[in-house]
Amino acid sequence: MIVLGIESSCDETAAAVVNDQREILGETVLSQEEHKAYGGVVPEIAARAHLEHIDDIIEKTLKKAGVKPEELDAIAAAAGPGLIGGVTVGVMAAKALALALNKPFVAVNHLEGHALTARLTAGVSYPYLLLLVSGGHCQILVVKGVGDYERLGTTIDDAAGEAFDKVAKMLNLGYPGGPMIEKMAETGNENRFSLPHPLQGSGDLNLSFSGLKTAVRKIIESYSPDGKVEHAILPKQDLADVCACFQKTATECLLIKLEKAIKYFKTHYPEGQELVVAGGVAANTYLRGALERLAKAYRLTFAAPPVRFCTDNGVMIAWAGLERFQKGLVDDLDFKPRPRWPLDENAPKAAGAGGVKA
Ligand code: KG4
Ligand code: ZN
Repeated sequence: MIVLGIESSCDETAAAVVNDQREILGETVLSQEEHKAYGGVVPEIAARAHLEHIDDIIEKTLKKAGVKPEELDAIAAAAGPGLIGGVTVGVMAAKALALALNKPFVAVNHLEGHALTARLTAGVSYPYLLLLVSGGHCQILVVKGVGDYERLGTTIDDAAGEAFDKVAKMLNLGYPGGPMIEKMAETGNENRFSLPHPLQGSGDLNLSFSGLKTAVRKIIESYSPDGKVEHAILPKQDLADVCACFQKTATECLLIKLEKAIKYFKTHYPEGQELVVAGGVAANTYLRGALERLAKAYRLTFAAPPVRFCTDNGVMIAWAGLERFQKGLVDDLDFKPRPRWPLDENAPKAAGAGGVKA
């Protein structure tokens, strides 16, 4: 079984071909450079760039895979959540191919793409505990099967990646901020500044990064002659220290809640063996190390996709599309792209806003 997947929900135009032997036959990722000057993704620019490149990317990917379009069994596209202009470009391309080739179309939830990647890269089996940390989302979930999730906690304000990006912006480190903060943090003293752990004792598994970001802002402002963050000048070592302290505290915030989630997971899913991290922030080596140690302490196997499959890519969409297709989950050609699309929308609502009480 061979599936083509198309990703265009944010600022990567990407495609991949995978098969049911967990082989990646071909893949292409184009990271749009157009947004660098703006310190964040500009939706209209993203949509136009997707439109300009999508045909080439698909053609190149099929060529790399050595697969003819008519040999595909299904065509999948990320159909949300994401920037609607970009999502529409990918979905239209996939539908056009499906129609022309008379093949099934599979609408993939971008988050499900991230969530299932470790099944392709590490052969993880259901159920598993997942920390999903990207630029737009930050959730702790139990992945029970395709389209079957229990959400244990979520951020009540910023996503983890968003916090990395906002801190990087305040420090003038460019976009995306996560990789730059990680790099700067390498030479920093992670104990120099004490930062808060919002919602630490909230009793549920929800997360919050807004207070942490504000605390970092206050430190940066103290380096400014007029108290404005944009005029702050930090000596190189101080900059590294701020990055290291932020990275450490953000990681601790995730670990505090994840540890509670592990206890819940072990009680309610005793057959579960794995802790998985996914999404762009899962590329962070410091976080991966901390998660690996946590998993070991609770006798869980830790799985993280290779770094290049943590940030947005076509492989994750092709694989999730393949898993859906295998279960007979195909979509009509009038499927509407969805800017919002919670992973657990079909799950029975747990008590309280944040799901599970710790
Ligand atoms: O999954 P992704 O590519 O796009 C979304 O679906 O949001 O995630 C992008 C996010 C950005 O916020 C970026 O700063 C963050 O992932 N990121 C990182 C690292 N690499 C990417 N955050 C921390 N450390 C990294 N090494
Ligand atoms: Zn993503």
